[in-house]
Amino acid sequence: MEQTDEPDGSVDVVWCRDVLEIIPDLQAGLSEVARVLKPGGSAVIYTVFATPRLEPREAAAVNQPLGSVPQNLERAWVEQAFKQAGFRVERLEEIGTEFREYEEERTQPVSESLLRLARLRRRREEVIQRFGRDKYNLWEASLHWLAYLLMGKAEPVAYVLRLP
Ligand SMILES: C[S@@+](CC[C@H](N)C(=O)[O-])C[C@H]1O[C@@H](n2cnc3c(N)ncnc32)[C@H](O)[C@@H]1O
Repeated sequence: MEQTDEPDGSVDVVWCRDVLEIIPDLQAGLSEVARVLKPGGSAVIYTVFATPRLEPREAAAVNQPLGSVPQNLERAWVEQAFKQAGFRVERLEEIGTEFREYEEERTQPVSESLLRLARLRRRREEVIQRFGRDKYNLWEASLHWLAYLLMGKAEPVAYVLRLP
């Protein structure tokens, strides 16, 4: 995202879902999006922010293994970065827990991930021995994520950004 091969002003729409969270230099990534877009082009961005319900220890346990940059989970920081890259927010949709409520009623992905989490923890030592601690931490963090979204500890927001 920070450096693409697309020529300047060549792209109609950039679609970016669940990526801003892990970009170390967010400003560079967004400036690159602005560079490749045609004048008047737009970027559709779906990203997730931490809420005050996410306790610091919980944040630390998921951010590091998942590669999330803590600052990029702060809404004010990200919205300021949009502005600095020259974008204006044309539309904003606070998805919150709604997406996860919908899925949970139909296919129970959160129940499934919590069941898998319990089973992973039950065999913690064996899994670490076989696959290493980093892999264990990554799986443990991943299996928390959907539950955190459903509990409102993390909230997705979708934006349509436009260049003037
Ligand atoms: C959570 S996944 C989201 C994938 C996809 N956008 C989706 O919604 O299913 C994050 C993706 O970001 C990619 N990624 C990691 N660092 C990146 C970077 N610096 N620029 C662009 N993509 C990156 C990863 O390879 C991974 O595919």
